[in-house]
Amino acid sequence: MGRNALVTGASSGIGRALSERLARDGYHVVLCARRAEPLRDVLRAIEAAGGSASVEVMDVADVERTVNRIREIDRSLPGGIDLVIANAGVGERKGHVSYAWEALADACHVNFTAATATLTAVLPEMVTRGRGHIVGISSLASFGPLPKSAAYCAAKAGLSMLLDCLRLDVEASGVKVTAVHVGFVKTPMTEKATHPMPQLMSAEYAADHIVRALAKGPATVDFPQPLAAVTWAAGRLPRGVRDLLQRGLARVR
Ligand SMILES: NC(=O)c1ccc[n+]([C@@H]2O[C@H](COP(=O)([O-])OP(=O)(O)OC[C@H]3O[C@@H](n4cnc5c(N)ncnc54)[C@H](OP(=O)(O)O)[C@@H]3O)[C@@H](O)[C@H]2O)c1
Repeated sequence: MGRNALVTGASSGIGRALSERLARDGYHVVLCARRAEPLRDVLRAIEAAGGSASVEVMDVADVERTVNRIREIDRSLPGGIDLVIANAGVGERKGHVSYAWEALADACHVNFTAATATLTAVLPEMVTRGRGHIVGISSLASFGPLPKSAAYCAAKAGLSMLLDCLRLDVEASGVKVTAVHVGFVKTPMTEKATHPMPQLMSAEYAADHIVRALAKGPATVDFPQPLAAVTWAAGRLPRGVRDLLQRGLARVR
């Protein structure tokens, strides 16, 4: 019986690269996102390389529909879904001051609520089967506050905490739970960024690193080093020192 993976945000960037990498490993990949044509491009690329995938046009922000559809997909695939990767994500919406609700709403909803819905849709079924793996693509931005990124940092920190808690709830069943804390990746999300992006990596490099690491079912995948270690330590500095550093950062963001 083949293994089945479901990846949200598969139409672009890290999600596309993860989908292609998983298909090379033999997974049938359910490619989920809102835009059909880019998803079909990914499908064509996977099939041309000899892999197997299917397209699911889905807006994860519609959480009820997302949960129901993921459950249907789980029932329709032989053996069910083995791996769910909640990767779909957005940054703060531009064109508003960074602390206005209009700037924050999507990043809160898609990055936390919709990711939670995606990750838990078939978690009870996985627990019953005694196998499965849920993975949230969080960020090094979850390690501490950043200027002009309130919703993004908060939603990713919430996602990481959610995964840490869920892991405790299901670990005895054999289901694995992983939070991926990734640094800067060259994708449409970062292409217009003007701030420094140390250790910027390609989506293909990031996907390869993530998929290799997931094989062991770790609680977290934190990379690239040393940026991950420095960011983690910076988030734990005394607040006064951290604020001084962040004010410097605010000038370049
Ligand atoms: N790039 C980085 O430096 C970086 C660093 C740390 C973490 N991350 C995280 O990595 C993940 C992927 O980001 P990326 O850099 O690859 O960005 P990206 O190229 O902009 O891709 C974002 C993906 O999310 C999908 N998406 C957004 N809203 C959606 C919705 N409502 N329903 C379904 N799909 C939706 C998009 O597809 P459609 O538009 O077709 O729906 C797209 O496939 C995000 O969670 C991001 O926060 C990125």
